[in-house]
Amino acid sequence: MPIYQRSGNVPAKRHVQFRNGSGKLYQEEVFGSRGFDGRYSILYHLYAPTEVRELEVLKANEQPKLVPSSEGFRHRHFRLGDATTFGDAVSGRKVCLVNSDVSIGICAPEDDMEYFYCNGNSDELIFVQEGAGVLHTQFGNLPYKEGDYIVIPKGTIYKMTSATPKADLFLVIETPGNLELPRRYLNEYGQLLEHSPFYSRDILIPENTQPEDKRGDFEVRVKTRSHLMSYHLGHHPFDVVGWDGYLYPFIFNIFDFEPITGRIHMPPPVHQTFAGQNFVVCSFVPRLVDYHPDAIPAPYNHSNLQSDEVLFYVSGNFMSRKGINEGSMTFHPAGIPHGPQPDAMQESIGMTRTTETAVMIDTFQPLNVTMDALDFDDKKYSLSWGTTGDVPSKMGA
Ligand SMILES: [Fe+2]
Repeated sequence: MPIYQRSGNVPAKRHVQFRNGSGKLYQEEVFGSRGFDGRYSILYHLYAPTEVRELEVLKANEQPKLVPSSEGFRHRHFRLGDATTFGDAVSGRKVCLVNSDVSIGICAPEDDMEYFYCNGNSDELIFVQEGAGVLHTQFGNLPYKEGDYIVIPKGTIYKMTSATPKADLFLVIETPGNLELPRRYLNEYGQLLEHSPFYSRDILIPENTQPEDKRGDFEVRVKTRSHLMSYHLGHHPFDVVGWDGYLYPFIFNIFDFEPITGRIHMPPPVHQTFAGQNFVVCSFVPRLVDYHPDAIPAPYNHSNLQSDEVLFYVSGNFMSRKGINEGSMTFHPAGIPHGPQPDAMQESIGMTRTTETAVMIDTFQPLNVTMDALDFDDKKYSLSWGTTGDVPSKMGA
């Protein structure tokens, strides 16, 4: 997981007096996961983070509406690249697949956020499919661009500002658990091992910013349980003079993932990038393909038993997979085999590289399809492997 970081001014010891030039105490905040047993950071504020002047319920008991179970389950293809702009980077989110561990959705913001946001329930992983801008947080700023995974721990107060209004497109993953780097990539000291497909230098941490010393009315919308609350603070929430610790937002760009390849087909775990509670996130990036003299670079048919597979197509040449475009997302529920068309297996022989880029989410509990997802549903997809079907291979999964 990300290593110890320190930014701005912090006192020599934790939990001791720390004052500004006028002798006023800074307000210390321990920002921790899993109570006092997980990763944490310590922040020093100009004003008490607990200062709330007013609060109200904006939305109560809001849950995604699910497709009736009577419809059964089948392979699905959602054309998320067709999402029309709506709302902002938070209110514009449409959840498409969900279970108790994770939700997966799309967001094409129409407007910048006019408030601050804090997801009190979930760690967030925002993949930037299109666009660029800045994630402003109490830890500092993180400029984002296409291909970025933006990791935002639960409890982080943030505001997103787009540099390309109406052009951003985000894949949004939320989990009530802790989103972490895979443990098998780390040594006993928490350092990324030599065999891991990325290194600490590839992880961007918030840029140090001057604390905002402003009094007034500042709205922070807080998602807690199934409620959306509006909290009004009497000070700017980005009033942090310094922080240190192990828990903070960061960015990792998918094109900094160094692919692991082999003589014969390498299974998806070699592409793993993040570990969640009962799910994994993998990155398929441009790479050389299998080089055994008798290799079949296209994947074998597979029944991903006890795992639902979601693949979001980022960029590259999907010409061999008719009907799948950038921004497409396929959903292959557990227990139903899937794979390439026989023609695609043959056609892949002799290939030396693939340009496809994709994000995969494998969940170990069943996912539910939401009614919002049906806006993007390609109803022909589940039969496209038939003798008259026309959906051949992707290289990765
Ligand atoms: Fe697969």
